[in-house]
Amino acid sequence: MRRVLQTLAVLAVLGILGGAAVVFGGLYNVSARAGHFPGVPFILHTTFNNSVKLRAPSESTVPDLSADGMVALGAKHFDGGCKVCHAAPGQERWAIPTVMVPHPPHITEAVQDWHPNELHWIVDEGVKMSGMPYWPATRTDDIWPVVAFLNAVQAGMDAKTYADLTLHPVRPDGAPDALPYCAMCHNTDGRSGNPLIPRLDIQPQAYLEQTLLAYADGTRDSGIMHVAASRVTEADLMELAAWFGSQDADPVAMSVVDDRDLIDRGGVLAVQGTQDVPACTSCHGPKSGLRAAGFPRLAGQSVVYLKDQLHLWRAGMRGGGPKANLMRKAAQDLTDADIAALSAWYAAQSAADQ
Ligand code: HEC
Ligand code: HEC
Ligand code: HEC
Repeated sequence: MRRVLQTLAVLAVLGILGGAAVVFGGLYNVSARAGHFPGVPFILHTTFNNSVKLRAPSESTVPDLSADGMVALGAKHFDGGCKVCHAAPGQERWAIPTVMVPHPPHITEAVQDWHPNELHWIVDEGVKMSGMPYWPATRTDDIWPVVAFLNAVQAGMDAKTYADLTLHPVRPDGAPDALPYCAMCHNTDGRSGNPLIPRLDIQPQAYLEQTLLAYADGTRDSGIMHVAASRVTEADLMELAAWFGSQDADPVAMSVVDDRDLIDRGGVLAVQGTQDVPACTSCHGPKSGLRAAGFPRLAGQSVVYLKDQLHLWRAGMRGGGPKANLMRKAAQDLTDADIAALSAWYAAQSAADQ
């Protein structure tokens, strides 16, 4: 017994010395050019595959990926946040990703064999020691548009469709230099036409400024806007806030829910409030005006966006500027039915009645 223990102790010391020689003596060759020993890529990739399959959320968590605006928003985010490594449908990768180890696969290859719930996990968590980044936000519901896009690539999206979805509009005279990038999603006048992307033409400049700073430093959680706001300088953000803040609010609503009763119920709640819910119009208008310049306008905003944001507020997951706590309180007692009604009513109001 003692001999066995002595042998184990000697082996342990040799192991530690060997490890120290590798770490401190520089014996391990970290060269990416030299690559891995034969068999190692197989082991790494098999480990990766099985790790994802074990941890991915269940398939029942996958929302309707064909909902209006999903694929388009996902393609636009991919263009700014992923294309640099994975290339776009119909494009060759540029030189750098092809000399990374492991190299980021071309996107048409990367999506093969994965189910939507697994793609969500990969984009959310990233892949350690490979260069594949994790989602830069705590909130993960906004990964689904990216998954919808990856799903469309799997189904064979062609280069022309991708190019149309990610078109950067021409910069109008006098507009900030960074505008075409933002306008890919928000359009040059702030009216996106996509129900998942809020319109900006209705917002006061002060609200836009504080919101963009909150996205940039992560106080307002959004994987999509955190990437967008950190791609330009703070001075650019202030110019962009001034640009969108000076657009005339288009009186035509973005979307109107076809349910008069629901809209009317929302109107009563928004204007009168209840014991638990304050009157929304006292801070947001319309007609009575905004209580402060840093407060957002809601009249004519996209109904899908309003609903998503109210759910985030109620869950305590929506950050913002210095007055965000007021709104967190206002939303804490809303029911799902209240949220549906309030969103429907505000979306149906004319942006001209601020
Ligand atoms: C800095 C480069 C980089 C960026 C940016 C990047 N990736 Fe990756 N990605 C990688 C690398 C490297 C791998 C390979 C990981 C491996 O095989 O171990 C990978 C793997 C993947 C895979 C799994 C592919 C497989 O091997 O089965 C998917 C899907 C993917 N990325 C999607 C995305 C999406 C969507 C984005 C943007 C939100 C993104 N990636 C951003 C480098 C990147
Ligand atoms: C890939 C698409 C995309 C790009 C590019 C993009 N945005 Fe956004 N933007 C969004 C989405 C989606 C939201 C909603 C995010 C959320 O849930 O908080 C948003 C929200 C916003 C808001 C908040 C509006 C509100 O009512 O609170 C502002 C302001 C904004 N974006 C400005 C910009 C500016 C300025 C740029 C360029 C630097 C930009 N965006 C680039 C998609 C985009
Ligand atoms: C005491 C004032 C106050 C009241 C009452 C109030 N809000 Fe707010 N609300 C705010 C402030 C301030 C913000 C902006 C916080 C930030 O992002 O910095 C906000 C933000 C919002 C947003 C996000 C808008 C966007 O463009 O992202 C929605 C949606 C909203 N409120 C809906 C409501 C509804 C519905 C009610 C009524 C139940 C309500 N609010 C009551 C102050 C208020």
